[in-house]
Amino acid sequence: MAENLPIPQEFMPKHVAIIMDGNGRWAKERGKPRSFGHRAGVEAMEPIIEACAQWGIEVLTVYAFSTENWARPKDEVNALMGLMVEYISKKLDRLHQNGVRIRILGDLNGVPDAPRRAIEGALEKTRNNPGLKYNVALNYGSRQEILRATKALAKKCAEEGLSPDNITEQDFEAALYTEGLPPVDLLIRTSGEERISNFLLYQCAYAEFVFVPEYWPDFSPEVFARALKTYAGRNRRFGKV
Ligand code: IPE
Ligand code: IPE
Ligand code: MG
Repeated sequence: MAENLPIPQEFMPKHVAIIMDGNGRWAKERGKPRSFGHRAGVEAMEPIIEACAQWGIEVLTVYAFSTENWARPKDEVNALMGLMVEYISKKLDRLHQNGVRIRILGDLNGVPDAPRRAIEGALEKTRNNPGLKYNVALNYGSRQEILRATKALAKKCAEEGLSPDNITEQDFEAALYTEGLPPVDLLIRTSGEERISNFLLYQCAYAEFVFVPEYWPDFSPEVFARALKTYAGRNRRFGKV
């Protein structure tokens, strides 16, 4: 049951997405290497997952690694992949006990063996869990996702007799990584940057965007609650008056 809600239940978002940005700058301000910031960023995750579970949020989607992030220096990419494995080995049991269901948005085939195997284990273990739907966008890009969906539908037209004129929004949505999930209500980006960086372009069609100045390692349930208050103060019109 939802407890200690920061805003009234009727204003709570169903689907929160977070662009976890600013690890590198957080580390730089402390005179440390970027990987130090990524490690701190990993630690910031758990309290947010727990807050979502406590507040009865249905879906939490976080941006962990974009298709463009492969262009970073090799040692940074390796550090990020290593942290992924470490995180899963340390936290998976607790997430599982709390009923969290993990899902990956993105192309897992493009992920190196060790993190891929750890992730596949986590997906398998938690697949029937009834609690928070926790999606990690990994090797994810929205343009690639939309193109992939388009190709899947084109194939259905060519091979299964679907008529292009009959393709619906529901068909399209079912071909996205987010199949079956509600659209994003609230998109939060940390670190003061105000851009979408190839994240959930389709799913954010009517999302409210909240940008917070804190770097991701400093994002806490308190900062999250503040973002929710900002969200609750918005007037979502969906094109109406
Ligand atoms: C976010 O922090 C984490 C990832 C993109 C993996 P950054 O690494 O982008 O940190 P900044 O934006 O350079 O400070
Ligand atoms: C977006 O952050 C990707 C993730 C948070 C995983 P970036 O730091 O890669 O985005 P840009 O390059 O500032 O747009
Ligand atoms: Mg960044």
